[in-house]
Amino acid sequence: MATIKLKNVIKRFGDIETIHGVDLDLKDGEFVVFVGPSGCGKSTLLRLIAGLEEISDGDLYIDEANVNNVAPADRGVAMVFQSYALYPHMTVEENMSFGLRMTGAAPELIKERVSHAANILQLEPLLDRKPKQLSGGQRQRVAIGRAIVREPKVFLFDEPLSNLDAELRVDMRIQIAKLHQQLSATMIYVTHDQVEAMTLADKIVVLRAGNVEQVGSPMELYHNPANEFVAGFIGSPKINFLDASIKSVETDAVTIDIAGQSLSLPAKTELCKVGDSIKVGIRPEHLVEHNKECEFEIDVLVDVAEHLGGVSFLYGSYQGHDLTLEAPGKNLSKSGDTVKVGAKLSDFYLFNSEGLSLQNREVPTR
Ligand SMILES: Nc1ncnc2c1ncn2[C@@H]1O[C@H](COP(=O)(O)OP(=O)(O)OP(=O)(O)O)[C@@H](O)[C@H]1O
Ligand SMILES: [Mg+2]
Repeated sequence: MATIKLKNVIKRFGDIETIHGVDLDLKDGEFVVFVGPSGCGKSTLLRLIAGLEEISDGDLYIDEANVNNVAPADRGVAMVFQSYALYPHMTVEENMSFGLRMTGAAPELIKERVSHAANILQLEPLLDRKPKQLSGGQRQRVAIGRAIVREPKVFLFDEPLSNLDAELRVDMRIQIAKLHQQLSATMIYVTHDQVEAMTLADKIVVLRAGNVEQVGSPMELYHNPANEFVAGFIGSPKINFLDASIKSVETDAVTIDIAGQSLSLPAKTELCKVGDSIKVGIRPEHLVEHNKECEFEIDVLVDVAEHLGGVSFLYGSYQGHDLTLEAPGKNLSKSGDTVKVGAKLSDFYLFNSEGLSLQNREVPTR
C-alpha cells in the first residue's frame, strides 16, 4: 500500500505541453478514478506515475520517496492496460507468473502467488489455457491477475473494461470493486465512463486539457461541482443548462430571471453582479412532471421518448435549448407532446459567466 503525491507535474512532448502542473495527494488504499474527455491527459498522467513516461518538470512521490528517476520496475506499481497485452504463446499460468520468473523468484513463491491470484479472480479452471481460448472478460482477468501476482503497492488501470460488452463491464466493475476491498491497495483507474467513476471511486479527479478541474468524492462532484464543466461531466444523463440573468443581488442571495420567472436563491454574490448572464443547471432527475412542490416551471416539447419500463427518458427542447428529462416508467409521453415540468430551487445549480459555481451546495453524508 502506498501514498502518491504529485507536485506541479508537467509533461511536454517536444515543444507541446500536455500536462500543465498537476498537484495531487492520493491516500494509502484509496480508489482514485481519473476521468475526462478524450485527449485530456488521463493515460499520460497514469504513465508518468508508472514511469513509462518521464516527467518534464515537478515531482512525483510514492510513499514519500521521490521517484522521478526510479525505473518503472522499481516503483512498486503494476499497470493493467485496455488491450490486455497478454503473451499469446503462454498459458494463463505462464502469463501470470512471467514477471516474477523474470525477477528470479523462488518457484514455491511463484506458485503460491499465482494460485492466490487465480483464486481471487476465479481463474483456477483456466490456468492451462492460452489467451486465444479465453473470452474477453477472462483475458482481462488474467491481465489483472498478472498485476496481483506482483503484489504491487499501487495498481494502475487504463480503461481496462472498454473492450468488453455492456453486461461484462458491469460484472468486471463489481469484481474490481471487490478486488479493492480484498487487497486494500492504492488503485488508480482511468475511464471516460462516468458511471464507472461514480461507482468505483473513493476520489474522482476530473481532468480537462491537461489540468485538474476538481478533485472530490463522487457525491461532492455530483452535488457540489466547482464549475460548469464538472457539472456537465458528472451525472448521467447529462445535466441540462438554461440561460438566466442576475436581476438583483442581495446579502448572500441573488434574484435571477429565468424563463420569464423571477426567483431568489442563495449565492456567492462576490462572483456575480446585476445584469450578468448566468447558466442554471438542472439534472434530468430533478426536472419532474409539474407538481405543487415545484418552484419553477416550463413547457417542454418532446422530440424523442425512450421508455425502458422502470424509467422513461424524454429528450426535448425549451426555447432552443435541448433538455433531457428522467421520468418514472409510467410516464408514457411521446414525440410531439408538450409536457409541463418543474423543479425545486434547491435542485438548481448556478454558474457565473466564467462557468464558476455560485453556490456551496450541501453534500449528503452518512
Ligand atoms: N507520445 C506522445 N507524443 C506526443 N503527444 C502525445 C503523446 N502521448 C500523448 N500525447 C498527447 O497528449 C494528450 C493527452 O493524451 P492522453 O493519451 O493522455 O489522453 P487520454 O485522456 O488518455 O485520452 P483517451 O481518453 O482518448 O485515452 C493528447 O493531446 C495526445 O495527443
Ligand atoms: Mg487514454
